[in-house]
Amino acid sequence: MAHKFRSLISNKIIQALDHIAIGGEGLKSSTVIPCIQVDQKARIHPEFRVSLRRLQQRGVISSTAVGRKSLLNCASSLVEKFHTDMTIPGVYVVEDKADIRVNFKVNCHNLVADVVGITALRPDAFWRSSALVNILPKERVVADFSSPNIAKPFHVGHLRSTIIGNFICNLHEAFGHEVTRINYLGDWGTQFGILKYGYDACKMTEEDLKDGAIRKLYEVYVWANQKAEEDSSVLVKAQEIFSKMEQGDEEVLRAWNLFRKVSIEDLRRVYSRLNVTFDEYHGESMYSADECQEIIKMMEEKDLLENTEDGRKVFSLTPNNRITVVKSDGSSIYLSRDIAGAVDRYKRYKFTKSYYVVDNAQTDHFVALFTIINQLGFDWAENMSHVKFGRIRGMSTRKGTAVFLEDLLDEAQNVMKQKQEEANTTKNDLQYSDVDIADKVAVSCILVGDMKQRRQRDYVFSWDKVLQSQGDTGAKLQYVHCRLMNLQENCGVEFTPTVNTRFLTEPVAISLICEMARFDEVLIEAYKELEPCVLVNYLFKLSGSINVALKQLQVKSSPLEVAKARLALFVTARYTLAAGMKILGVEPLNNM
Ligand code: ARG
Repeated sequence: MAHKFRSLISNKIIQALDHIAIGGEGLKSSTVIPCIQVDQKARIHPEFRVSLRRLQQRGVISSTAVGRKSLLNCASSLVEKFHTDMTIPGVYVVEDKADIRVNFKVNCHNLVADVVGITALRPDAFWRSSALVNILPKERVVADFSSPNIAKPFHVGHLRSTIIGNFICNLHEAFGHEVTRINYLGDWGTQFGILKYGYDACKMTEEDLKDGAIRKLYEVYVWANQKAEEDSSVLVKAQEIFSKMEQGDEEVLRAWNLFRKVSIEDLRRVYSRLNVTFDEYHGESMYSADECQEIIKMMEEKDLLENTEDGRKVFSLTPNNRITVVKSDGSSIYLSRDIAGAVDRYKRYKFTKSYYVVDNAQTDHFVALFTIINQLGFDWAENMSHVKFGRIRGMSTRKGTAVFLEDLLDEAQNVMKQKQEEANTTKNDLQYSDVDIADKVAVSCILVGDMKQRRQRDYVFSWDKVLQSQGDTGAKLQYVHCRLMNLQENCGVEFTPTVNTRFLTEPVAISLICEMARFDEVLIEAYKELEPCVLVNYLFKLSGSINVALKQLQVKSSPLEVAKARLALFVTARYTLAAGMKILGVEPLNNM
């Protein structure tokens, strides 16, 4: 946001650099937007900062102007140039020698008019017209996230992948990129042999899978797995069943199809509680032995594979690290399927970015995958990345170790309800109007509680912390959104997008507007680092400013013009909050 200032300042800088002949070659103001930030501390005197070092890193200042001294000279020349050419109304130039920055103190009224004016008129698309967003090249993004294993439980790692992956997709979509969301199911491998063995041994039928399929399949899997551990002939049988699958045996594939179908139906229901959808369900099964053949051939032609004595084919990542790509019986494995999958995805989507949102534990796997794709000579290897995240410890339900996502969501809802009952007696906590709302607030809490953490850090989970109504939780964001909605509906003044923003002069109003003005900068930072906590923390700060402003700026009892301007401030603040929540995957509620 704060578009006008940003482009005014950036244009002026480019012109001035050109004038003092220290600009990089072929500079165009449309392609180089200096990194300008609204100073968070400046509050009442909003300030945009331009760091000369940053400009140099981005090639805006030519690299011949090296060293501190010449950068300082450059800053002085810039300031001088601005002083003699004061054509920007309300923009003043100060030199800050310590950081070699040029700071622009901007006229408050103009900033207020810019931020509130634009946001009020274009609630849905306001951040999209930001110059910071518009200079990003348009990407074709493929994101592989969630990706649980059928027949094995959906664990908290999959939950984090789902939450973070969804956020990454939402953010890219918000920036106008083309996004394909892929759920790459673990639907192939020996575990299906084990599952099918158990299914037959327990004489199960399709009827048995009518509801709670994932749970039942899991029970059978655990049982059969135990058997396989005790009795090696069971494992041999399971391996035979999987080999049959790879060879296209109809009977086994019919069962596999059923397991896959009922599991996806189950998953979809749970995803809908989390507001998550996928464009496509892919699976490891798409890259079974036959599909992997072509890849193996390519690898062999490039001399990337060696045959071991026990009949495997291995790839040497380093001289001491040889990784299996084909098993001795010729069947595919996780890595070979991912290689074939990557090639197939490139063919289908011609992606410019391909993300794999998977926990830290699979770092070696993805290093191997990307190295192989690179050594196969595919230049798009550099567009692939592993978006890693840490482990959550202690996320379980009262029944014990949680293995099913649905149990977790139910548990959250129960804890929420319990809190509500306590609140009914103590009257100092939030109360929710119905079960559906309690569930939605609980989900918001889980999402926000997770995204609040730096993605790569491990953290300890606590129901109390995540679900509390005070403190920085999903419930708080929902609560603030509801307060704003309530104000808009009940203040007795009608919201109109064009108001006289000159009535917004109080420090709390300016402070809130400065916070809103940072929204696009925050999104860009979250985008560059693929880090949801940047946005979450911002939304907490924004909510804090909103709460302070709500306390001090009355709408109802103020003269009409003032009331209208204040209402516009609160409505635009709500738009900003809601836009941020939606990008996080949290559906903003209108009442609680
Ligand atoms: N199903 C895998 C697991 O649960 C995650 C798959 C991630 N995506 C991928 N393309 N390897 O560990």
